[in-house]
Amino acid sequence: MLEFIEVKNNSAYAKIALNGAQVFHYERVGEKSLLWLSEISDFKEGKSIRGGIPICWPWFGKPQDKTLQHGFARTLKWTHISTDEIDSNTTQVILKLQHSQESLKLFPYKFELALHVEIGDGLKLKLKTTNLDTKTFEITQALHTYFAVSNIDDVEISGLENKPYLDALIWKNEIQKGVITFDKEVDRVYQKVDNKINIKDKNTTLHVENSGSSSVVVWNPWIDKCQRMSLDKNDMKKEAYKEFVCVESANAFEDFIVLKPDESHTLEAFIY
Ligand code: BG6
Repeated sequence: MLEFIEVKNNSAYAKIALNGAQVFHYERVGEKSLLWLSEISDFKEGKSIRGGIPICWPWFGKPQDKTLQHGFARTLKWTHISTDEIDSNTTQVILKLQHSQESLKLFPYKFELALHVEIGDGLKLKLKTTNLDTKTFEITQALHTYFAVSNIDDVEISGLENKPYLDALIWKNEIQKGVITFDKEVDRVYQKVDNKINIKDKNTTLHVENSGSSSVVVWNPWIDKCQRMSLDKNDMKKEAYKEFVCVESANAFEDFIVLKPDESHTLEAFIY
């Protein structure tokens, strides 16, 4: 089992693993966890938990290397800096990750990453990247949120109508017509998003607001990819695709971030 931080206040209950600074449980009082977590996920150091909110950094969708396509921040052990009660309804947890010999081999720059997680009636994540190097670097990144749904057939995502997107399955640019529903594999990077996104399930609607980002990734593996992932990675069941949808707050592809020495950038997601 991995080391994790447990937070309980008047509004919610949450769990955050030090491995990857991964929030893997967030439950408001009287509700189920809003985050999906695979029942057969590995909880092993050096491996991302399947579910919750993996942090993809310093790459999102790096096509050159499949094993590192979502970077290494989600598999390294972060340092717990503090847990503070802001008031009886809100708790803030801060975790940090700095460059190491291991990271410098993959990404040859000195950096600091700080994740602020605010657990209240909503869940707020702020991921701040600071360039501690003498050279400029570029990053792409994502807060890769797995939302738990009662059944993918009932899910409808709004807020992305008329937005341009890259269909990552056929590598083609398209324009979103109407709301998004699911009856096949979906792997899309929406661009120029500066508004609220709504995830409507059978009886509930969740909202996501992002800042420091203009890309939103919507992903559901559907039947075949879920079966393949279940066999190859052995951390999700064959039918798991029915239970989640990923709506990821991202800086991806053309929406990459350039940081000069001493500069910082914050990617923020607010889920409520
Ligand atoms: C999504 C990508 O963000 O993450 C998919 O769009 C990918 O293409 C998925 O399959 C899961 O990636 P991983 O590395 O966690 O298995």
